[in-house]
Formats: sequence, structure tokens, C-alpha cells
Amino acid sequence: MTIIENAAARKILDSRGNATVEVEILTESGYGTAAAPSGASTGEHEVMSFPEKGVDASLKVFEDEVLPQLIGMDASEQRFLDALLHQIDGTPNFSRMGGNMAVATSLAVAKAAASAYSMPLYKYVGGALSNSIPKPLANVIGGGRHAIGGTDIQEFLVISQADKVSDCVFGNARTHKIVGQMLKEKLPGHAIGKGDEGAWVAALSNEDALALQVEACDRASSELGFKVLPALDMAASEYFREGKYHYKDKSFTPEEHVDFVAGLVEQFNLHLVEDPMDQNDYQSYVSLTDAVGSRCIIVGDDLFVTNRQRLEKGIEMGAANAVLIKPNQIGTLTDTLETVELAKLNGYKTVISHRSGETSDDTIAHLGVAFGSYAIKTGAVGGERTAKLNELIRIEEDLEA
Ligand code: PGA
Ligand code: ZN
Repeated sequence: MTIIENAAARKILDSRGNATVEVEILTESGYGTAAAPSGASTGEHEVMSFPEKGVDASLKVFEDEVLPQLIGMDASEQRFLDALLHQIDGTPNFSRMGGNMAVATSLAVAKAAASAYSMPLYKYVGGALSNSIPKPLANVIGGGRHAIGGTDIQEFLVISQADKVSDCVFGNARTHKIVGQMLKEKLPGHAIGKGDEGAWVAALSNEDALALQVEACDRASSELGFKVLPALDMAASEYFREGKYHYKDKSFTPEEHVDFVAGLVEQFNLHLVEDPMDQNDYQSYVSLTDAVGSRCIIVGDDLFVTNRQRLEKGIEMGAANAVLIKPNQIGTLTDTLETVELAKLNGYKTVISHRSGETSDDTIAHLGVAFGSYAIKTGAVGGERTAKLNELIRIEEDLEA
């Protein structure tokens, strides 16, 4: 039933127009396909998305070395298969095969096995008792690496607090729309566009963007009848150089930056802050978590890169209270699951996440439910983002049936 009969990999487009890969797996009675996304503000400790020679070199490793081994294997032997991917690659960071090829293969195998058992992926990975759906976390104003001319801070996010995930999805989309209307009123005659993740991009200071975001949250909350809370992904590694955090109009030492971020959390009542410090600045994470961690979710993305060892160090030091989970940062479902389990054991929340370069693949919606994640960061609008949001709506319906 779950024996792999055939497999294929091909080069496809991502939402930024770059090449990525998708993998198809066919078993005796199952079928699975998965495509890998790509980041723009990638952490330096992530596995490599593709080998130096690019996507074609990655496809050649699949054809010559992975495919012959896959045929005849049991797709339900996930740990064995993921270990085999590491073994074939033979490097510590998937630099020969490409982490994107590894993750697309790993997830396609899981989906083929789930399909052979006639189970949705969330149930196959999470077990019969998985029933909590992550809250969608949506980018409404963008800057940094995702939008030239925008804010220094990469993502101004909102998270609706309705009981039903479908209400949250529409709540976030409504807030995105309100932000768009407010921007047009505030900046008449100015060009206003959208960044890589569908968030609005405008010539605003970080503080003006925050104030506008918070007002949009308040307006949306009173219109919708449930709270819509503000959050940030600061992607601070992108502007940390020579020991300082450099914004367009100011620079901070690490100690000053802790105070700056803690001040933003207080002033704007931020529910969650991702990557507030540089990816190697564990100590400042500790200071910030000491200062505001009891009232704000502090998420490590570039800090932890879904890597169990890096999360272990963070837990020992008290460097955050949540971890972003991006399967292609680490390369296989097994590695991803080990990081999620470590987080759960230690009371860290998990936030499953898209990348800025995405495809219509909706696997992370299932993984977010399987992992019992607190939130799923996957934008508010745009086909490659709504693919995940609409799948969450379907999963909710399935869970309620
Ligand atoms: P990336 O950014 O996908 O471009 O790495 C997303 C993030 O920083 O969370
Ligand atoms: Zn991030």
C-alpha cells in the first residue's frame, strides 16, 4: 500500500519568479506532492536551499541518487527516509542536494503515505487527537528585504483572536484592507504597492507604520467584535552590522536596542515580536525576554532556524519563549518534528511559517495543526498565501464534522 512505485522532481516557479522544486511520490495506493519555498531574509545558520550550481544540480542529485533509492521503499518509514536523504547528501547543511529538494521529497513522501491510508496529512503526522488549529498571523505592512523603499522593520503583522479559524482568516484580511484604505488617506497621490508577501508597502517611518497598524487593529476589532492584535517581525539580523543595529535614522548598541524593542512592546501593546535581535545575539534575546517575555511572545526565526541544537541553547539561556518553524530551514520532516517536540517539552510556543517566495503548496496548514502550533504565519492575501489559509478553513470544517 505504501511502497513507493514511482517518483519525480521538477523545476517550478515560485511567487517571486525564481526557480524552486516540487516532488511527486506515487505508492501502490497513494499519491503525494510537495513544493519548497525560498526565503529572501534567510538566516545564516539555515541549510542551503540549493547547491551552489543551482536548481539543475539539485535535480541531478535527485535523478541519479535519490530516485533509485526511493523506488521500492516504504513511504511510511519517514525517519528512515529522512536519514537516507542526509546520508545521500553527505554534508551538514544539505549543500550538495539542496535543502529545498530534501524538504520537498520528505513532505511528498509523508503526503503519499497519508493518502495511502486515506488520512489527511494533519492527522497522519499529528495523530488522531490533533484538534487545535493555529491562529493565522498576517503581514499587513512590509519592508526590509521584502520591499524596496519600505520600512526598516520587515513585517507589521496582525493576529485575529476569534474562536473560529475562518473568522480569523477573514478578520486578518479585513484588517489588511483597512490598512490599505488608511494608507491612501494618509499619503494622497503617493505610490502604494505590495511587497513579496502581499503586505502594503509605503514610504513610512517604522513608528508611523506601527501607529497606523495599531489604529487599523482597533478599527477592525470594533467592527468585527473580536480582538485583532498587533505583532512584528523585525528581522533585525538584516540591519545589524559591526556590533550595532542600524535604522535609516538611528543606530543602537545591543543594550539600547533591547530598551528600544521593550519600549515598542509597551507603547504599542505588541502581542508578539519575531527576530527582535541579531541571529547570533543570544544575550540580548535573554535581556529582552527577561524584560517583556511575560507579556509578549518572543519568537526566534533566524536565531533558531528550526534547528534543534540552536533551540536547545536558547532554552538553556532563556533566550525567547517561542520558535518559528520553517521546514525548509532544516530540510526534513523528522528534523522539523524534533525541533517542535523540544519546544513543546520546554513550554515554547511554535509558529509555523511560510517563506517570502512561496508556491501554492498548502502543506504548512496541515503541519501547523499536526504540531499544535500557536500560530501560522502565512500572509493575508495573494494566491500563494490564501492557498494555506483556505486549507485551514477546510481543516476546521473537517475537524468539526
Ligand atoms: P524569508 O522571510 O522567507 O524571506 O526568509 C520571512 C521571515 O523572515 O520570517
Ligand atoms: Zn522572520
